Parts: sequence; C-alpha cells; structure tokens
Amino acid sequence: MSALFEIHNLAKLNWDTGEGASKYIFAGVSAEIAGPERIALIGASGQGKSTLLRILALLDAPDEGDLLVNGTSYKNMNVRQWRMAVSYVAQQSVMLPGSVEDNLRTVSRLHGNAYDSKLAEQLLQQLGLDYLDLGKTAADCSGGEKQRISLIRSLLLRPRILLLDEITASLDINSTQKVESLLTDWHLKEGTLLIWVTHDLEQAHRISNRAWVIGNGELQEHSSDTLFAEPAAVLAKKFIQSVKGTR
Ligand SMILES: Nc1ncnc2c1ncn2[C@@H]1O[C@H](COP(=O)(O)OP(=O)(O)OP(=O)(O)O)[C@@H](O)[C@H]1O
Ligand SMILES: [Mg+2]
Repeated sequence: MSALFEIHNLAKLNWDTGEGASKYIFAGVSAEIAGPERIALIGASGQGKSTLLRILALLDAPDEGDLLVNGTSYKNMNVRQWRMAVSYVAQQSVMLPGSVEDNLRTVSRLHGNAYDSKLAEQLLQQLGLDYLDLGKTAADCSGGEKQRISLIRSLLLRPRILLLDEITASLDINSTQKVESLLTDWHLKEGTLLIWVTHDLEQAHRISNRAWVIGNGELQEHSSDTLFAEPAAVLAKKFIQSVKGTR
C-alpha cells in the first residue's frame, strides 16, 4: 500500500544570489509519511518553513523533486484535485471579498460540493466564534478572527493533509487552546495528517508526535518525545547556533 504522503528530494532555489547566499533555500528534503500523523515543523525565521508548506500545497513550484499523495505524483494530478487533498492555512490569513459566510462557502463553491452549514456552525462554536455575525464583511474581522475563519474554511474541505502555518500566532491563550484541542480531535476522528509550523516549542510538543527541524537548507526528522525532552531554552539556543554562519 502506498504511503499517505511522500516527499522525494525536494529543493527550492534561493532567489537571493548575492555573495555568501546559498544556492538553495533547502535541498534534498525527503520524508515518507505512512499514515495520519501530527508533525511539528520548527526552525528559525527565514529558514523556509512557509516556503516548504506552500510548495507542499502547490501554491509555489518545487525546483527539484517530487511529491506524492497516496502514491500519485503531483505531476499526474491537476492542481484542484491536489488542493482538495492538501490544504494550506496561511501565516497571514487572506479573506476573500464578501461576508464571513461567503468565505466559508468558498470551498464548496470551488469544488462543487454541498455546503455543510451544520459543520460550519459547530466549528465556529468550538473555536469561540459563535458570537460572530456571519453577514459581517470578512475583511473587517480582527487578525485572530480571520485566522480561525481561514482554518474553518480549510476544515470544511476535509483534506487528507492539513498544512498549518503559525495559525495561533494572533490568538490569546484561551483561543489557542481551543484550536489545539479542535485539531487534535479532528486528527483522530478524520484521520487527517497535520503538518504544523510553530515557534512555540511547548505548543510543538503538545500537538505533535514527530518533529521536522529545518535549518542550514536541510530537514531533519526526530521523534517529538526525544527532541522535546530537552528544555525549550536549550533547544532554542541550538536552532540559533545551527543557523549562524550559513546565511
Ligand atoms: N524562491 C523563493 N521562494 C520563496 N522564498 C524565497 C525564495 N528565494 C529566497 N527566498 C527567501 O527565503 C526565505 C524563506 O522564507 P520563509 O517565509 O519560507 O521562512 P520561514 O521559515 O517561514 O520564516 P518565518 O518563521 O519568519 O515565518 C525568505 O527570506 C525569502 O525571501
Ligand atoms: Mg513563515
């Protein structure tokens, strides 16, 4: 049986070609994920975490390598099919024109599925957004509201693979806990693979069973229990040191 998700020798060229710049942002990135897991993607700023997730969602093109979902390469799938399976929740949430409800309905409109208003309502409630007027212009929502709306927009698609880019960065502790517990439940119930970028090492430990560390143009894999057994301060120092002198 094919793995749920495979990454083979993925590379992205660096557009910064100045002296001292490396040729690639990252290269030789490979991973095989047999089934639904919870992966924390961590690394210092500017190491390519968002770029990697954007490539995995085909929002940006890889320069080398291959990506496969359930054994099928992205080269043999159209982008729409790919994005039904692999959904990216952006670091900077972008609201589409129209109301909150228009935004939530976008996914079903794009993919020709029925809009599951019951699920939308349930997710809004679980994320503490039940007070929100669905007729409100989405662009007028706060940063934290927009982040949760984008997350719900992606969940309504029920993707096999969910790519989460610092999605709790604008949220208070209470809302952050709601997002974490919703996604942990969702992962269990729906069997969704989560790849979650965060700078919060305690959050990374809470939400993952496996960790990917990106730095110096490489991706390393660890078990979360081993990696996060080190105190957060020691770990953070290591990241900073590993990045020094290479960029
Ligand atoms: N072809 C390219 N595509 C995308 N980014 C590129 C490219 N070439 C160079 N870059 C640079 O690579 C860096 C990678 O940025 P990216 O947003 O992926 O980092 P990040 O790890 O997500 O950082 P942060 O933690 O601050 O969000 C940026 O400095 C970007 O300008
Ligand atoms: Mg980023």
